[in-house]
Amino acid sequence: MSHARDPYGDVAFYELLHGSYRDDVAFYRSLALDHPGRLLEIGAGTGRLTREFARLAEAVVALEPADAMRFALQEALTEEAWEGATRVEVRGDTIEAYAQAEPNAACDLVVAPFNVLLHAASLEAQDAFLQAAHQCTKPGGLFAFDMMAPPVGVLEGVPRLELRDDRMDGGEVKVTRVQWHDPVRQVLRNDFEVETLDGEGRVSRRHVELTVRYLHRFELERAVLQAGFSRVQTFEDFGRAPVGASPRHFVVLAHP
Ligand SMILES: C[S@@+](CC[C@H](N)C(=O)[O-])C[C@H]1O[C@@H](n2cnc3c(N)ncnc32)[C@H](O)[C@@H]1O
Repeated sequence: MSHARDPYGDVAFYELLHGSYRDDVAFYRSLALDHPGRLLEIGAGTGRLTREFARLAEAVVALEPADAMRFALQEALTEEAWEGATRVEVRGDTIEAYAQAEPNAACDLVVAPFNVLLHAASLEAQDAFLQAAHQCTKPGGLFAFDMMAPPVGVLEGVPRLELRDDRMDGGEVKVTRVQWHDPVRQVLRNDFEVETLDGEGRVSRRHVELTVRYLHRFELERAVLQAGFSRVQTFEDFGRAPVGASPRHFVVLAHP
């Protein structure tokens, strides 16, 4: 679907799908409380968690390379709700570029919440991402991230209604997802169709494509250790349950 949009170029789509996701908030808040000081957020998106970090850390650097997401984050930073919070330095760098630009970053806590590492599509890209995160984490600090575990039972090509929402003008918006799974390449493609019915009864559709490469548990742990971390803990949820037979997520704590 070559005309499909990049999900991070379509803030309305991202917010519709993930704006109210809260499963990880208590977890990342507790890490920020336990690791006070300088916090680096990799892939801050539109600031879903940056809001929380700004109230807990002494200094926050939020990296978001996608222009549309970063502009939305910067706009949100001017909102009233952020008053009294720590000043957030927002940068358009990837973590790899940031580690090069700031070789002495020395952060107490480095986080990459909600599938950021899934976007590293090759072994080299995964290594570069993790090495950069390691370089930015100071001794005694912590690197934490979470990502989707290998998917099971994907019904390839079967449209699934993801959400249906009322619009202010009396219309509605509907998101449908079709998935394609390549277990040999460890790649999952998501094709989304966003159908909007406005208050006048006019229908419009747009397509968004999100392709990600997932990692298996020990492959992931080996990569984290290979990047220079000395200890890695992997859980299957934000309550820190041990990884079982069919995890849906990996929640990882890496110690430098
Ligand atoms: C699924 S979104 C998560 C956004 C945000 N962390 C949240 O929880 O809502 C992944 C984000 O990671 C960003 N990203 C992908 N690769 C990155 C990299 N190498 N360095 C920094 N950010 C990256 C993308 O631009 C995107 O905004």
